[in-house]
Amino acid sequence: GWLAPVAARLAKLGPPGELAAGLLTKVAGGERRGPELPQAVGSLASVAGEAFFLPLYDLFLTYGGVFRLNFGPKSFLIVSDPDVAKHILRDNSKAYSKGILAEILEFVMGTGLIPADGEIWRVRRRAIVPALHQKYVTAMIGLFGNASDRLCQKLDKAASDGEDVEMESLFSRLTLDVIGKAVFNYDFDSLSYDNGIVEAVYVTLREAEMRSTSPIPTWEIPIWKDISPRQRKVNEALALINNILDELIATCKRMVDEEDLQFHEEYMNEKDPSILHFLLASGDDVSSKQLRDDLMTMLIAGHETSAAVLTWTFYLLSKYPNVMSKLQAEVDLTFMLNADAVLGDGLPTLDDVKKLKYTTRVINESLRLYPQPPVLIRRSLEDDMLGEYPIGKGEDIFISIWNLHRCPKHWDDADVFNPERWPLDGPNPNETNQKFSYLPFGGGPRKCVGDMFATFETVVATAMLVKRFDFHMAPGAPPVEMTTGATIHTTKGLNMTVTRRIKPPVIPNLEMKIVSDSEGSTSSTAS
Ligand code: HEM
Repeated sequence: GWLAPVAARLAKLGPPGELAAGLLTKVAGGERRGPELPQAVGSLASVAGEAFFLPLYDLFLTYGGVFRLNFGPKSFLIVSDPDVAKHILRDNSKAYSKGILAEILEFVMGTGLIPADGEIWRVRRRAIVPALHQKYVTAMIGLFGNASDRLCQKLDKAASDGEDVEMESLFSRLTLDVIGKAVFNYDFDSLSYDNGIVEAVYVTLREAEMRSTSPIPTWEIPIWKDISPRQRKVNEALALINNILDELIATCKRMVDEEDLQFHEEYMNEKDPSILHFLLASGDDVSSKQLRDDLMTMLIAGHETSAAVLTWTFYLLSKYPNVMSKLQAEVDLTFMLNADAVLGDGLPTLDDVKKLKYTTRVINESLRLYPQPPVLIRRSLEDDMLGEYPIGKGEDIFISIWNLHRCPKHWDDADVFNPERWPLDGPNPNETNQKFSYLPFGGGPRKCVGDMFATFETVVATAMLVKRFDFHMAPGAPPVEMTTGATIHTTKGLNMTVTRRIKPPVIPNLEMKIVSDSEGSTSSTAS
């Protein structure tokens, strides 16, 4: 597995015995208020090109829940302790900003809700959270179903043609189509065909990922940034997206002006339930750059994360056929009991989604093993204590969700995909009931605003896909390995063989003869 070369990585990063005695912990305010932070010494070379959160796991086992990692002149604090994570994210969240993250994402998100800090963040959070009310999220379930159905049609064709499919890119397109409609009522239709705007979104995303993993910020070099072909392409992509955004905002504004508007808490325009429509109806300033920054932020935040969750969920399901069987059994039962979908082709309703408890656990557990993003980034704005360790202002901090989610002390069989670890009749696991050992959507005031949205979206897509198809790793597919951008990607795609499932005999009187061979692939004939 990919956690195997532990020893090799530790050697590269230097065992505790090699700690340079001269590298002393920075001490807040000049006076020592606690023990020195454990220090690990690393080199950038050992991290470039590989999923950087993996060596952090090995170091966590060696140095503990809070330690300092030195990368040449730079230094980071790595946090893998639930109480310290709770302190930074919730109890003393005012003392921390987004730091490096805001700097890296500035070119695309500006002061959108994810990078924003202080007063801008406070005002915008208050404007945006109400847009994702219960009625909106419920309306989105139809959208999730429609988009997932389009993906099913694509897979149906691949199954007929006997072609393998690369699921990671298909999931990326599925969630792009969903988030475009959901945020600003735009149909990217990227599942059907490639167009300039879809390409522009991907150019922008790849740039954001490159910047967050690149050791040298070439995009800041004065002349290079204007003549580099790569930067020119990025600027053109951003200009194209911004033009579309301007058009969408103008169109939406006209709709709002023509409405007999009665704004209230659960306001929603049935024809256009988008977040943009809510924001304009609530009085958001159409001409502001802030509105564009927030739309762009939600486009990116809600696209890549959900796609990564689906990718790793299907990877895990292919590795754990017993979980897949149980999942398919629940989905078959749920859709059969739904009167609107007796023949099995209706789209899921909110009621169905609520009944899909095991499916939800599958997503919960997939998010434990593959958190998106695997680390949260913060910077201290003042002196503080992290557990027993004093820290100064200006420290860059990585909270490793990956480490929290795989901590062997906290989780039984931490590396095993076991959706049963949370009983179906219990509450959905979240940061509060798991005491900050489980943070799939963060925690505290900066917690994800799209957690319900994303959970329903991934549950609906997973249920609809496994209901109609079986998924196996394609024969001869390259091994699935991880690499990081903002979320965890595969290095070479998720290549799968998709086969149609035999529909369960839903009409009791219709006799079905099911012929099954030893490989488990089945075919049926109705007599
Ligand atoms: C923040 C995860 C889907 C919008 C966050 C954070 C996490 C997260 C961990 C906290 C970041 C931090 O504290 O530094 C996820 C996952 C998703 C998902 C795993 C999918 C499975 C979405 C969707 C939307 C969205 C669909 C939009 C509709 C946001 C926004 C923030 C955020 C705006 C920033 C909130 C703030 O700082 O006040 N997300 N997210 N996310 N997410 Fe999500």
